[in-house]
Amino acid sequence: MTADKNKIIVAIDGYSSSGKSTMAKKLAADLGYRYIDSGAMYRAVTLFAMEHGMISESGSVDETALTDALRNIYIDFAVTPEGQHTMLNGVDVEHLIRSLEVSNHVSPVAAIHSVRQALTAQQQRFGAEKGIVMDGRDIGTTVFPNAEMKVFVTASPEKRARRRFIELQQNGTPSSYEDVLANVIERDHIDETRKESPLRKADDAVILDNSDMSLQQQEKWLMDLYNRITSEINGSNC
Ligand code: DC
Repeated sequence: MTADKNKIIVAIDGYSSSGKSTMAKKLAADLGYRYIDSGAMYRAVTLFAMEHGMISESGSVDETALTDALRNIYIDFAVTPEGQHTMLNGVDVEHLIRSLEVSNHVSPVAAIHSVRQALTAQQQRFGAEKGIVMDGRDIGTTVFPNAEMKVFVTASPEKRARRRFIELQQNGTPSSYEDVLANVIERDHIDETRKESPLRKADDAVILDNSDMSLQQQEKWLMDLYNRITSEINGSNC
């Protein structure tokens, strides 16, 4: 199938709990694009590893066993009345992958070369026809280095921890604010310093610091950028 020439790829990268997913989802809905939460894919692989005894009590991951198992892990997204749900081997794991336990184990899993290779290939297949908004850490740098629109989202660790804390409470998985903040800071460190596809801004990404922005302001900011980029593309195609 060929890509619709008017559709583009939107890559939204940034720190954990920076609100990327909320704004990416809204942009995709407004544009009629597909939304892919790449972090959910790393979380689903982590859940699989936890459920199959591949993560020890001390948190170390059995890399060999997980690499072997990757061919038996199928991740997809189902659209439900409550929104998009992550499916792991046909089972809805949307709620489970958001737990603090999965959050605590996901960074070492996401640092494994074979895991990144498998998920990057699948993410590229999702975007083969364009018309996609994908959020994550390495979408603009590794998954879609040629994406037409790249955004790098950031906010202070305290603001992000507060948002995640409220989200966990709403999901019925309460934890202390201090634990959530510690998790945010630790994940930032692992994401930024890992060897495989570390979190970094692509040279051609536009920074969005949303520490003091409302959701509406962020939505408008993104839509304005999208309109500017697509009109530039259309202008240069004339
Ligand atoms: O966005 P999130 O917090 O749901 O992401 C979960 C973890 O997955 C996070 O620790 C970083 C990792 N991740 C990644 O390494 N690459 C991506 N493209 C997306 C997420």
